[in-house]
Amino acid sequence: MPSAPPSVPLHIAIVMDGNGRWARQRFLPRLAGHAQGVESLRRCVRACVARGVQVLTVFAFSSENWSRPQEEVSGLMGLLAKALAREVPELSRDGVCVRFVGEKSSLSDGMRKGLEQAERLTVGNTRLVLNVCFNYGGRWDITQAAAQLAARGEVITEASLHAAMGLAHVPDPDLVIRTGGEMRISNFLLWQAAYSEFFFSERFWPDFDEAALDEAIACYGARERRFGRTSEQVRQAGAQPEALRA
Ligand code: FPP
Repeated sequence: MPSAPPSVPLHIAIVMDGNGRWARQRFLPRLAGHAQGVESLRRCVRACVARGVQVLTVFAFSSENWSRPQEEVSGLMGLLAKALAREVPELSRDGVCVRFVGEKSSLSDGMRKGLEQAERLTVGNTRLVLNVCFNYGGRWDITQAAAQLAARGEVITEASLHAAMGLAHVPDPDLVIRTGGEMRISNFLLWQAAYSEFFFSERFWPDFDEAALDEAIACYGARERRFGRTSEQVRQAGAQPEALRA
C-alpha cells in the first residue's frame, strides 16, 4: 500500500447522508439521489486511493432502512446490483478489495451470491479496503459478536469481542465523516468509533466532492488525538496513535 503522511487518516468511515434531500431540491425522485450517491461514492473511492487512505468504510444500508417505502428499498437493491456488475471489475483494476459487513443470512440468495462474488473477485487487492456496511447496525454487530463467543464458550474480553466483529480485518476508523448536516451516529460503528475523530459536513452526499474530502482530512490533521491521555503525554509519545493506544 502507498504510504501517506501521518496527517492523512488511514481509515475513513462515512455516513453518506442527504441523497433524498439532494433529489428533492431538484424535484427528482429520492432514488435519483441514491443513484447520484453511487457516483459520489465512486469519486470518493478514487480520491481516497489517490491520497493514500488505506481503508474506507461506508454506511450503505442500515438494519433500519428496511422500514423505508417498499419502492425505495427495492430501488436501492437494484442500484446495488447494478453497481456491483458495473463497478467491481474497475475497482479491482484500481487495487480495491471490497468487503460487505452486515447481516447476510437474511438477504436473498441472489443478493448474497452477488456480494460474495464481489468479495472473491477483489480479495487479493491491497491499495484500499472498501468496507460496504449493508444490512448493518452497530448494535447488531456487538450482539452477533457476543453471541458467537457465547456459542463457542469463549470468555468475553475487549479483544475477543473485537475479533468477532464485522470490522476485525481493519484497524478502527481514524476519522468518521457524516454528510447531510445531521450530527448523530445513527447506529454506525458504535464499537469501532470509540476514539475516532468526527467531521460533520453540511453538504448532501452527492455533493461531497474531492475538495470536501480534503477539507475533512485537513480538519483531521489539525486535531490532537489523546486517547484518554494528556497533551503532554501525547507530545512525548510523538503523536503516534499506536503508541498512545498501547
Ligand atoms: C442516506 O440518505 C443514504 C442512504 C440510506 C443510502 C446510501 C446509499 C448510497 C450512497 C448508494 C450506495 C449504496 C447502495 C445500497 C447502492 P437519505 O436517503 O437518508 O437522505 P435524506 O436524509 O436526505 O432523506
